[in-house]
Amino acid sequence: MPTVCGTPGPPERPPGAPRTTPASPGGARPPPRDAARRRRSRRRSTEQQEAPVSTPPFPDQRTAVVTGAGSPRGIGRALAARLAREGWAVAVMDLDEEAVADVAAGITEAGGRALGVGVDVSDPASVDAAAARVEAELPPVVGLANIAGISSPTAFFDTTPQEWDRVMAVNARGVFLATQRFGRGMADRGLGRVVSISSVSAQRGGGTFSKSAYSASKGAVVSLMRAVARELSPLGVTANCVSPGPVDTDIMGGPLDDERRADMAAAGLVGRVGTVDDVAALMAFLLGPDAGNITGATYDVNGGLHMS
Ligand SMILES: NC(=O)c1ccc[n+]([C@@H]2O[C@H](COP(=O)([O-])OP(=O)(O)OC[C@H]3O[C@@H](n4cnc5c(N)ncnc54)[C@H](O)[C@@H]3O)[C@@H](O)[C@H]2O)c1
Repeated sequence: MPTVCGTPGPPERPPGAPRTTPASPGGARPPPRDAARRRRSRRRSTEQQEAPVSTPPFPDQRTAVVTGAGSPRGIGRALAARLAREGWAVAVMDLDEEAVADVAAGITEAGGRALGVGVDVSDPASVDAAAARVEAELPPVVGLANIAGISSPTAFFDTTPQEWDRVMAVNARGVFLATQRFGRGMADRGLGRVVSISSVSAQRGGGTFSKSAYSASKGAVVSLMRAVARELSPLGVTANCVSPGPVDTDIMGGPLDDERRADMAAAGLVGRVGTVDDVAALMAFLLGPDAGNITGATYDVNGGLHMS
């Protein structure tokens, strides 16, 4: 401790020694306010004891898992290609095993590294087997993009319990299973990014193509990512959502005809329907090294169709 104008400061504290409150005259106990502060800070340090002080740097060799990457005009395929260009090894997963083999071959031909793996995201055994392959054949998983999903344009009164369960199984349970399976390794390594796709339908109760079961399943995705963010961010794993408006892919009941496209474009502020690259670019950023302080967030990419 330096002295000022020759006035001696308090005695040096040996390195590592606890900071002590000066005792009151006569060695009396510190006032109760200090004791409460100490209790609060002890509680805080117990809650945070497993938190890494800082996350490790992004490794050069790292893998992103992209579910729902098989569809030829889909968001997953566009994201997988983008991530490969950005230096990730990519595990492309889909119910359609042949399609992801093709996607992986395309990425490899373009000079990237990829593995196509068939998976049913709603089935825990299938997710576990797929994850085991990825872990055996690719570098450590740092990113997970939960994209696999199905639509449900059925009116509320016509929605059967079976359809409800199927939509929830793929869109909500699938995100839960993949995030839990890959999240464990991320938490062990102290670094991970989970980004899941919700939908403007969760915010507006449908209104574009799908209806109640789909909207509810996509609402669950937002809530789940917030809860995961709360538990896993202190372990180095962020969790976020993107919430697209209409994008011209096959999930909208096939390619949009001119009239539907024009109606959808007119409903937003930007005046066009979204593209797979609009969504993929945002997801790639949230999976990347610069997004480490973003967690529990939901980003709209809807051309102003809805403001949240
Ligand atoms: N296109 C849009 O307008 C839009 C808008 C908002 C949100 N989204 C969401 O974006 C995601 C991607 O949709 P897309 O537009 O690319 O549709 P898409 O139909 O082209 O892609 C979805 C992919 O998920 C796969 N899949 C379905 N069930 C699966 C399962 N059980 N296990 C593994 N894979 C499965 C399909 O085979 C398909 O390849 C979906 O979750 C969708 O709900 C799409």
